[in-house]
Amino acid sequence: MSGHDAKVIAIDGPAGAGKSTIARALAARLGLDYLDTGAMYRAVTFAAMHRGVPVDDVPAVAELARALQLEVGDDGVFVDGLDATDQIRRSDVTTAVSAIASNSDVRTELRNRQREWADAHGGGVIEGRDIGSVVFPDARLKLYLTASPRVRAERRVAEAGGDVDEIERAIAVRDGHDVGRADGGLREADGSRTVDTTGLSIEEVLEAIVGLLEGDE
Ligand code: DC
Repeated sequence: MSGHDAKVIAIDGPAGAGKSTIARALAARLGLDYLDTGAMYRAVTFAAMHRGVPVDDVPAVAELARALQLEVGDDGVFVDGLDATDQIRRSDVTTAVSAIASNSDVRTELRNRQREWADAHGGGVIEGRDIGSVVFPDARLKLYLTASPRVRAERRVAEAGGDVDEIERAIAVRDGHDVGRADGGLREADGSRTVDTTGLSIEEVLEAIVGLLEGDE
């Protein structure tokens, strides 16, 4: 467990629930740093594909993850010194990342790095799928952000374009992988607070979260 759990705000939830936008805005408002742990899983996926390591080769990918020089921050995502900020969002990376996320040795390595990050940054707003449930169970506040599948698909279309029905189907497939994963499967952590962002603006979600923080004081 990290020595900085008490200064961590953990945000979990399915793809497209607004986690990144909200986590970034909340961190700015509270003067904390922000960590996108999905970017770490994506970076390992990109590195494996880049080096020709099959993403389902469990020991080889675990070895790669342990050796990888990885920086995830406001300046972007750097993999062994290479700027991979845009590459990790490629659709082939998005498709392959589930295989990497179900590799328990990769998860162990990345969870250790997430705890080290929190120690180095004095806590922070950290978002992913298992942040409140596994990585920081004693976080100051554990949030589970969700929204209806249709709204999540519509947000993705607004960001990156595409066909809303197709994207809604793809989101359902990712939800299946996220919830079905034996290690770190997506669930509401014990003691977490659920915020359904369907129909709420970013500002309204932030107000709801600040209200939860103040109520807990
Ligand atoms: O949030 P995202 O879509 O960028 O996450 C990419 C993938 O990584 C997604 O398939 C789920 C996985 N992930 C995970 O297993 N655990 C986390 N803490 C964060 C993301």
